[in-house]
Amino acid sequence: MRILPTIAILAGLFVAACGSPDSGSEMGAGNGQTLTIYSSRHYDSDYALYEAFEEETGVTVEVIEADGDLLVERISAAGDRNPADVIITADAGRLWRAEQAGLFAPVSSEILEARVPESMRHPDGLWFAVSTRARIIVYAEERVDAGALTGYASLADPAFRGRVCARSSGNVYNISLLAALIDRWGADAAQQWAQGVAANFAREPLGGDSDQIRAVAAGECDVAIVNHYYFARLAGEEPAVTEGLAIYWPNAEPGVHVNISGMGVSRNAPNPELARQFLEFAVSDRAQRFFAELTNEYPAVASVTYENAVLDELGDFQADPLAATVLGENQAEAQRLFDRAGWQ
Ligand SMILES: [Fe+2]
Repeated sequence: MRILPTIAILAGLFVAACGSPDSGSEMGAGNGQTLTIYSSRHYDSDYALYEAFEEETGVTVEVIEADGDLLVERISAAGDRNPADVIITADAGRLWRAEQAGLFAPVSSEILEARVPESMRHPDGLWFAVSTRARIIVYAEERVDAGALTGYASLADPAFRGRVCARSSGNVYNISLLAALIDRWGADAAQQWAQGVAANFAREPLGGDSDQIRAVAAGECDVAIVNHYYFARLAGEEPAVTEGLAIYWPNAEPGVHVNISGMGVSRNAPNPELARQFLEFAVSDRAQRFFAELTNEYPAVASVTYENAVLDELGDFQADPLAATVLGENQAEAQRLFDRAGWQ
């Protein structure tokens, strides 16, 4: 990624103006316009997306990155000083928090409505998925009989006592997983599951998803729950870590829990039309390939094909068709159930 012409630290935020010096000369559509994006994602796919948008429109993209849980605060705090045009975040739970904070404006777009499946966008157009991620189970091939895994439910089986690694229940990926399981099994069964998994921990919850994979590789535990792209990244970049590990797709009905990364237009957007145009560009074939080829996510637009040998290697799976809005609605209850279950 080229970060041109400036990198500035502003109020503790990382601000990158991704200017492409010769962009826009043909289309001339930029007219010196700047699109301000607030994002909690720090992925190569997104930098490619910004740069491609600049190239195609001549617009300058300014990106302000803030970590997931700080994003909402920072956008609210920015007020009129540096208002967002576009808001990007990973996880339906975080989109929901931004929605609850009143940060989004409704967008009506035939392109977005046609390309993003209904279950992956807000019914009033407040946000739209751009990529999807599956929450899967990683296991040590030598120590786990693949037949012992029959879905997420297996992780609560006493057969796995002392053998499960997980990250903390405060993490939004786990909250959204439990939010999906509440819808699937009901609150009581979901809590029992969380309790059963917590009883099977090899150690207290610690670290991020990659750390869980490394812990299985190191023999600290035998199974772990992680987002698929962490495994794909390690398999591609550090194959020594994933050697001896396998992934299990919890396909049991209604399927593998799938979460989204999404975008919306800010309620205070100085350039709402341009912001909508950016969202439409993000679901174009070209942009969708960035998510699969540079970040190992799955495109939100089902018809998009991509080249990624590591992702192909993970194989096919059946995705839970649950609407992303439900993941948001069940956030608070999921957090409560985790607390009651003693999953730290
Ligand atoms: Fe992540």
